[in-house]
Amino acid sequence: MKTEVTQEMIAEHRLILRMIALVEKSAERLARGEFRNWRFFLDAVAFIRDYADRFHHAKEEAVLFTALVKNGMPEKQSPIEAMLMEHDAGRAHVRGMEEATQRALAGDDSGIPALLEHARGYAKLLRGHINKEDTILYPLAERVLPEEMRPAMLDAYRAAEARAPELAETYRRMVEDYEQEILS
Ligand SMILES: [Fe+2]
Ligand SMILES: [Fe+2]
Repeated sequence: MKTEVTQEMIAEHRLILRMIALVEKSAERLARGEFRNWRFFLDAVAFIRDYADRFHHAKEEAVLFTALVKNGMPEKQSPIEAMLMEHDAGRAHVRGMEEATQRALAGDDSGIPALLEHARGYAKLLRGHINKEDTILYPLAERVLPEEMRPAMLDAYRAAEARAPELAETYRRMVEDYEQEILS
């Protein structure tokens, strides 16, 4: 039995998908003129930046994808390059969401169409991205990575978590609180 290196990454995807569901719901309500909770969109931007990107994507980019490249997967014109491009495309949507939310907060409703476009764009992109990782790239990693590489990967995940000790718990609570507020 090999040491699992993607199980916890799949669990992180689940929390990211819960936030994406909240973003989609909020965008839907904003589009109908029923929701003007700018604080939610700023918190969603913070979640995506800190948890989905600096935490989860950093673990992928610095540990999991690096291990796949060391094990012979090409860096260019490969699934890894495609995943990295999607991480970057996500970052651009988040910048757009933040900028549009700041405009709305300042009382300028002309930012709302851009906010909707970037919120929906991010949700669609990340759903597809997570699906590809869960069903193609992660199972491939579990098949091909040799056991001798794996304990060091788990150590590197733990080191990433130690750099931000409260982060996962703080954002899990944020998602739970907004689920109560937005979905109930
Ligand atoms: Fe990813
Ligand atoms: Fe991921």
